[in-house]
Amino acid sequence: MTETIHKGKIFADTSSLEEIAEIKALLGYLDGVTTNPSNFVKTLMDGTERVYDQDELLELYKKRIQEIRSILPTGSISVEVYADHKTSAEEMIVQAEEMNTWIEGAHIKLPTIPAGLVAAKELVGKGMNVNLTLVFTEQQAAAVYVATIGARRGQVYISPFIGRLDDTGMRGLDLVKNLVQLYQKGDSHVEILAASIRTGTQLAAAISAGADIVTSYPAAIKEWVGLSSSDLQSKTEDGLKSIPYEDTPLHQSFSVYNISHPLVDSGLKRFADDWRGLIKS
Ligand code: E4P
Repeated sequence: MTETIHKGKIFADTSSLEEIAEIKALLGYLDGVTTNPSNFVKTLMDGTERVYDQDELLELYKKRIQEIRSILPTGSISVEVYADHKTSAEEMIVQAEEMNTWIEGAHIKLPTIPAGLVAAKELVGKGMNVNLTLVFTEQQAAAVYVATIGARRGQVYISPFIGRLDDTGMRGLDLVKNLVQLYQKGDSHVEILAASIRTGTQLAAAISAGADIVTSYPAAIKEWVGLSSSDLQSKTEDGLKSIPYEDTPLHQSFSVYNISHPLVDSGLKRFADDWRGLIKS
């Protein structure tokens, strides 16, 4: 890995304290951490099959976020609200405001669905930081842009999910390139945080594509560190279908965009199932 590769910021996509400390030591820096319900509950799975009350689980999430803050005193830390399609904007706002008291400057992750956008608009207006997650389309990105107009740079992240698009045969990296192009038409108040990155080469490609920030599994960050410049230049056919740029307008009301996508539905379900899987029935 050469210094010129580190153009974007690097976040670790994990809730594991050991992994965060390890990556910070390996790189000599770490710009942030993204947690989500799935990677958080994984840290509690110790083979005992213990289950928790909702409040108990939230308390453990809070403790974990505060422990991450002690390893990363100034980096960005993303904390995700619990949401499914039935969760209202008001319910997301209540959760977000509570999570915002856990640490200074948290980025609150909200799903990029209609209620998530309404919540984002309100929270940004109150000066809070947000990270709009589960992004698979340019229409979602345009809606995020419009819903958060007026935010300062650093306040709003958008997380396009590269790996989950790749899993369906679509080239997730094209979405990142399309969002870079889309946002060149506007101000720069939304930062692109490329997510769902499973390999070192995906990570390098996301940085080259112009993502402002890349969040990745620790194993992929380690792989990226070990890549040589010839690894990075070698081009292999990926067999994925390209995602064309649509030049979506950035000046409509955000409720006008078509932001539905099957991967949003399955993603919401996966996060909710993982969280509920540890709750007492
Ligand atoms: C990070 O913000 C995302 O939640 C994460 O990258 C999702 O990764 P996955 O698609 O591998 O679950």
